[in-house]
Amino acid sequence: MAEKTERTISDVLTKPDVALELTLRPSLFSDFTGQPKVKERLEITVAAARQRSEAIDHILLSGPPGLGKTTLANIIAKAMGANLKSTSGPTIEKAGDLAGLLTNLEEGDVLFIDEIHRLQKTIEEYLYPAMEDFKLDIIIDQGPNARSVRLNLPRFTLIGATTRSGLLTAPLLTRFPVRERLDYYHAEDLEKIVVRSARLLNIEIDLNGAREIARRSRGTPRISNNLLRRVRDFAQVRGDGRISVEVADKALAMLEIDENGLDEMDKRILEAVIAKFGGGPVGVNSLAVAVGEEPDTIEEVYEPYLIMEGYLKRTPQGRVATELSYQKLKLKPTSTSQPGLF
Ligand SMILES: Nc1ncnc2c1ncn2[C@@H]1O[C@H](COP(=O)(O)OP(=O)(O)OP(=O)(O)O)[C@@H](O)[C@H]1O
Ligand SMILES: [Mg+2]
Repeated sequence: MAEKTERTISDVLTKPDVALELTLRPSLFSDFTGQPKVKERLEITVAAARQRSEAIDHILLSGPPGLGKTTLANIIAKAMGANLKSTSGPTIEKAGDLAGLLTNLEEGDVLFIDEIHRLQKTIEEYLYPAMEDFKLDIIIDQGPNARSVRLNLPRFTLIGATTRSGLLTAPLLTRFPVRERLDYYHAEDLEKIVVRSARLLNIEIDLNGAREIARRSRGTPRISNNLLRRVRDFAQVRGDGRISVEVADKALAMLEIDENGLDEMDKRILEAVIAKFGGGPVGVNSLAVAVGEEPDTIEEVYEPYLIMEGYLKRTPQGRVATELSYQKLKLKPTSTSQPGLF
């Protein structure tokens, strides 16, 4: 069933194709399309730090998967002429792991911590003085001989990335002077990304074909790049290799990605909220069981897009289907479902 799993959006977003991303990942601000405000602010931060020959302030990048957080971290480090050392929240298991990472940094280096919301609380506390004062207090020895030793660290920059900034503790959040949130991309920007990727991968595509893929990519560059390759396969086998709007449309329909870019799981979620939970409100755990997906994946991958596009609403009681969901599924709200919601 490899074909089947590769088809889901969550698979594209949670198990990215490393080789493909390395090929297509822009390495300069000038190649990074979209997110103009974020880009401008980061470029200024970098330019100012360079002028002063200082390390840049710590930066937190947040936003749904596949929007360019890792890409931006790399671009920033490169623009600073700094080394980038990468790690991720869950892989730092002991305080000693963090101490090892920090003490190996050199002046001006960038330490990138992906999924920083998954850092253990005890480890987080070691990070505070490191971020603030460039000092690390470590305890050596155990029992009666245990003592705290303070190490001086070089001035480094921490870039944290998270898909769930809401899960970050306040003390950690406030230690990032620069906080930027990436939003879903406009179709016009994704169109440029599709055209650029097609050029890098030697794929023949016309502007309308690129537009069609862009429009149905849930505002996400990683999905655009992935769909581009899937559509290319279709064009090669069923056509002459060129991607036009007709070819893109047929290929995307075959992949069960609808007119608005929703896939099977999106529809299963909307269907469950409406058919199984009377339109909501329903909690994420019950919803996850109903559709057979992880609650985290629903919250990180599916829900943000469905909410942004107006299919779902989040209320303190849980998720509620909007009128648009009923229209999408060609269903009518019943009298038991959420009177007065629309
Ligand atoms: N602004 C952009 N312009 C061009 N390509 C982009 C842009 N943003 C992202 N991409 C493409 O999308 C891919 C995914 O981006 P990236 O890995 O940076 O996402 P992410 O936000 O780190 O995702 P995750 O949360 O899953 O780690 C990149 O390899 C790159 O090819
Ligand atoms: Mg990433």
